[in-house]
Amino acid sequence: MHIIKTKESKIFIGNDVLDEVKKTLEKYKDYQKILIVDENSFNYCATDFLIQTELANDVEIIELDSGEENKTLEICQYIWQTFVELKVDRDALVINLGGGVICDLGGFVASVYKRGINFINVPTTLLAQIDASVGGKVGVDLNNLKNIIGVFNEAEAVFIYPNFLRTLNKKEMLAGYSEAFKHALIADIDYWKKLKTNLLSNDSLWEQLILRSVEIKNDIVKRDLKESGERKKLNFGHTIGHALESYSLSNEELPLLHGEAVAVGLICETYISHKVNGLNHKELKDIVSCVTNFFSYYDLKEDSFQLLIGLMKNDKKNKNRAINFTLLKTIGEATVNHKIGEDLILEALNYYCSLKK
Ligand SMILES: NC(=O)c1ccc[n+]([C@@H]2O[C@H](COP(=O)([O-])OP(=O)(O)OC[C@H]3O[C@@H](n4cnc5c(N)ncnc54)[C@H](O)[C@@H]3O)[C@@H](O)[C@H]2O)c1
Ligand SMILES: [Zn+2]
Repeated sequence: MHIIKTKESKIFIGNDVLDEVKKTLEKYKDYQKILIVDENSFNYCATDFLIQTELANDVEIIELDSGEENKTLEICQYIWQTFVELKVDRDALVINLGGGVICDLGGFVASVYKRGINFINVPTTLLAQIDASVGGKVGVDLNNLKNIIGVFNEAEAVFIYPNFLRTLNKKEMLAGYSEAFKHALIADIDYWKKLKTNLLSNDSLWEQLILRSVEIKNDIVKRDLKESGERKKLNFGHTIGHALESYSLSNEELPLLHGEAVAVGLICETYISHKVNGLNHKELKDIVSCVTNFFSYYDLKEDSFQLLIGLMKNDKKNKNRAINFTLLKTIGEATVNHKIGEDLILEALNYYCSLKK
């Protein structure tokens, strides 16, 4: 098992991690425990989790419908109401068992209920294991604006059990992979070289991938918990990615997954990095060919461009409505706070469209 120290707690990674959960739970022996799941993490992960942690008779289960469309204040309200009915007081522990939606939402619910109760994260998707469950950002969406309501609050501990990924479908695995690409691109060229060789295909290597990504994210977050500077590096691919995700959620029958939207964002923002931040042409080609190898082409429509720009202007990362980007200087090094004009953003979106085969 690997143990990574965060600013205020610890992340445990490995296929023996459920024993560690059991140990940690001993500290909360007299606490009321509430497990938050969605139907998939309930069906695929909860039995193993409850048996191995011997928690089955000592927990209330709140099961939500899966999907980003449920990461809302209405669902939070439903959970708070349930807490009140269950007489949950401050000596309670919330256990978030699920993907990024459950960790973000469950963490937020716990962070503000009675001014904050304890929570732990047990992420069950690749995206949540390498990104969403680490770094203390918890929150929900408001209408089509992503993560606009929330707070910074670290979980008491995060337990990453790679075996949970066995039941995750390929599309969801890939979506997580785009965050691993991001970690490599902003911080570690050797990791980038490894990812290109497709660590995904071999589940014995998942642990390695998770560990490296969590280390990179945690190192950055530790230096800048509240995102005043360096943490913005983690937004690479996300200015355009988030806008596209929001657009797709409100306009498409089968919306893009977060990681799929980020993959498009990575390509567009790599293009912008090439244009204004010194990223050379060879690296542009390398990144674009690798990302397009993994992700099939998304049919980006020109008539969505103005809407996308509007969404970017609304993004909480922006000051005074200027659109703010994190850009690559080279593979493994990113710089933050680039104000980019609409013309170049449109050019980058058109560049993506030109990749259609
Ligand atoms: N807080 C952060 O720092 C941070 C960082 C990145 C992303 N996020 C957020 O994370 C969310 C995306 O996370 P996600 O991709 O995990 O989405 P998700 O939680 O919707 O999970 C994806 C799907 O996989 C299912 N699932 C979960 N575990 C499974 C398992 N083991 N086997 C089979 N199916 C399983 C879920 O039910 C869901 O249908 C977004 O809301 C994004 O904003 C947050
Ligand atoms: Zn992301």
